[in-house]
Amino acid sequence: MNQPRSSPVRGGRFEGEADDLVLAYTQSVAFDHVLYAQDIAGSQAHARMLARQGILGTEEAEALCRGLDRVREEIEAEIFVWDPRLEDVHMNIEARLTELVGEVGKKLHTGRSRNDQVALDFRLFVSDRTRQWRLLLRGLVAILVERAGKSAKILLPGYTHLQPAQTVSLAQHLLAYAAMFRRDAERLEDSDRRIRVSPLGAAALAGTTYPLDPLSVSRELGMNGVFANSMDAVSDRDFVLEALFGASLAMMHLSRLCADIILWANPALGFVRLPDGYSTGSSIMPQKKNPDVAELMRGKTGRVYGALLSLLATMKGLPMTYNRDLQEDKEPFLDADRTLSLSLRLMTGLLAELAFLPRAMRAALQRGFLNATELADYLAGRGIPFRRAHNLTGTAVARAEALGLTLEELPLEELRAICPDIQADVYAVLTPDASVARRTTPGGTGSASVRSQIRCLKRWLRAVQN
Ligand code: ARG
Repeated sequence: MNQPRSSPVRGGRFEGEADDLVLAYTQSVAFDHVLYAQDIAGSQAHARMLARQGILGTEEAEALCRGLDRVREEIEAEIFVWDPRLEDVHMNIEARLTELVGEVGKKLHTGRSRNDQVALDFRLFVSDRTRQWRLLLRGLVAILVERAGKSAKILLPGYTHLQPAQTVSLAQHLLAYAAMFRRDAERLEDSDRRIRVSPLGAAALAGTTYPLDPLSVSRELGMNGVFANSMDAVSDRDFVLEALFGASLAMMHLSRLCADIILWANPALGFVRLPDGYSTGSSIMPQKKNPDVAELMRGKTGRVYGALLSLLATMKGLPMTYNRDLQEDKEPFLDADRTLSLSLRLMTGLLAELAFLPRAMRAALQRGFLNATELADYLAGRGIPFRRAHNLTGTAVARAEALGLTLEELPLEELRAICPDIQADVYAVLTPDASVARRTTPGGTGSASVRSQIRCLKRWLRAVQN
């Protein structure tokens, strides 16, 4: 359908076509064609505004909008021919529009530059994608909350320094991640206020001589307002960086969850059984069931950080205003988008099917003196200053270790030899269940706190339903 065309941006000024290698190096349509929907929506809003302002006739604007609808249809029917000689998505769409509607197509770019056009398209695109991320994060929080709701009575060791520290409920552990992913979603929502600011009307860099109405374009596109400074509008990509930072944090949280899952799946702990669909075998060791999905997710986190750092590096030396370097904002973002979206979906699926093994978790509570703090608190409760209680408990732990016993297996005489204030009621506070049940402070692992965390997260899930 489309005939080979020469570049309209070279019109008049240049002799001959660009070298093939130069074209291959500078074209962006191979990846920025994904912006077509935003580009068309932006152009239609621009055309209607031009008509409202009397810069174009109403019929002309209507012809442009109809033509752009047809271009969209061709793209979605996959019959549109993307031509690298036309450099980017913007010129490809404008050239086809002009083929379809004739001379009036050449009026679309009145009062506009590709510099404000691409900034608008990418703002709309990044906003759409980060909205998707937020929905995926919501789904992940939902599964964590669901599984936490059924895990308040399942106890396992909580670690610091990867050493047994104190007993926690599995619910508390899962809800820690739910809180992180909720913040990730909220962070992206906050960024969206700044992403959805329309740069259209900044033109190349200095504004324009046409009596444009940028605010009405912003309103029509459902954005939050317009740029305050035309040079800023075309030259900054901080909105992409905010999104990439949000993506990096979400990947970092996913990666830590992966680290926990990998650890839990190790037979030495055996706290979980990986769903078969999410694990892989070894080519040589027949017994192996490897947590490859979790490992790859942890590995791919580096890629997303890479996208953030790559764009930060691209930006740092750029003088005002638009520089072609800015075209390098898209590929890192698209890669990060693919990686994060897939990772969030996979983690949600994995968590839905992951089998928790409460017996192994409880057995692990027997190792590592997780209830030592309970004994120290018990002594402090009998008027012994905490620092001394801590010390006495240390002696008890050493004694138990020497006898090959747990703290609660130490006979009362042994305990009383260390501190005569200890009574038989000490054994009741040394059980894992008591240690969790007695942690009644807000945000702690006790059941009232877990219930209130779940209530609060469910309220949030309802509030961000769509
Ligand atoms: N493909 C370009 C980009 O992504 C579009 C803007 C081109 N503007 C220009 N002045 N060459 O940045």
